[in-house]
Amino acid sequence: SGKHRIAVIGSGSWGTALAKIAAENALRHPSRFHSEVRLWVRQKQVNGKKLTDVINKTHMNSNYLPGVLLPENLVATPKLSDVVKDATIIIMVTPHQFLHTVISELTRIPGTIHPGARVVSAIKGVEVEGTNISTFASLIEKELGTPCSALSGANIALEVAQGQFCETTIGCPSSDDAKLWHAVFDAPTFRVNTVEDVNGVSLSGALKNVVALAAGMVDGLRLGGNTKAAILRIGLQEMTNFTLEFFDGVQAATFSNESAGIADLITTCYGGRNRKCAEEFVKTGHSFEVIERRLLNGQKLQGTATAEEVNRFLTARGCADKYPLFEKVFKISFEGMPPSQLVKGL
Ligand code: NAD
Ligand code: 13P
Repeated sequence: SGKHRIAVIGSGSWGTALAKIAAENALRHPSRFHSEVRLWVRQKQVNGKKLTDVINKTHMNSNYLPGVLLPENLVATPKLSDVVKDATIIIMVTPHQFLHTVISELTRIPGTIHPGARVVSAIKGVEVEGTNISTFASLIEKELGTPCSALSGANIALEVAQGQFCETTIGCPSSDDAKLWHAVFDAPTFRVNTVEDVNGVSLSGALKNVVALAAGMVDGLRLGGNTKAAILRIGLQEMTNFTLEFFDGVQAATFSNESAGIADLITTCYGGRNRKCAEEFVKTGHSFEVIERRLLNGQKLQGTATAEEVNRFLTARGCADKYPLFEKVFKISFEGMPPSQLVKGL
């Protein structure tokens, strides 16, 4: 039939929350989508049971999104090739450090990906190699040979999954993609705006995690609202300038007007995991690795790796000093610079 089949790759907190929305919309639009939505779950044992069995029997992802009831047409599946079989809609939402493994698994056997498939990436991060930087949307497009859109917004996973009203932005390479992704995700409490700016959406989502670390450091230093507001403003400016400097076709309005820009920056700097772990980093002096393990129960920080990747790229290009906030976050996180130096000379 001409119906789309939806596959979700990644079942962390955001993967599970997005899968819930897509599965509810599959039921809402039965003429467009197959009702069954498959969710790739990297198998693990939870209290002696397989996580896939827990999800399929209790309709809860007790490990990554506890307390949220999932629709019964969402089916957890441990094998990647089973998840993407015949899927024409693929949602990529692994933590960014695991994407390469997933892509090599998907491309190992030709024909694993349906030739007409369209992909959206909800992954926040960047890919750096020497003096080159690219988005995960473009990496996926190149490796899988499918068009790839980018979804990003002010979307703390648990709040979204609880049905609290929010918005998101989807950057799409064509108007066909925009229509499709709107149908997959738009819901009364999850309002989608589509834009043409795939790079702007990808980069705002990635770079705000570096600013969120700075916001958490401000909290750890017990500085107040004025300082945090200054960090957000300077951060937004560096995010925008960086993206305009190194990427084509970017619109500054994605940063100033979209959920993916200013709104995501605000929510993450107040309620996100990067903020929380950076506050703990300043208060305890432990490494981010230790803090991630202690506080996040298997969830993954994206901001620390992004701070390192962005710094490596800017250093290779010889212009790290043009982005002083990004540079400070990197040096405090990885090179022993005292956190109190964060705002010195900004
Ligand atoms: P998460 O932080 O909850 O991480 C857990 C996921 O990582 C699980 O699916 C687990 O199976 C997987 N994982 C752990 N070790 C792995 C390995 N070795 N190989 C492969 N997979 C492994 O994940 P998340 O919150 O769903 O984040 C995915 C992406 O979505 C990130 O880029 C994140 O920035 C973005 N995002 C997250 C949120 C949020 O609120 N959680 C909101 C918007 C965007
Ligand atoms: P954290 O990873 O810092 O929790 O941010 C989540 C997010 O991206 C919200 O949009």
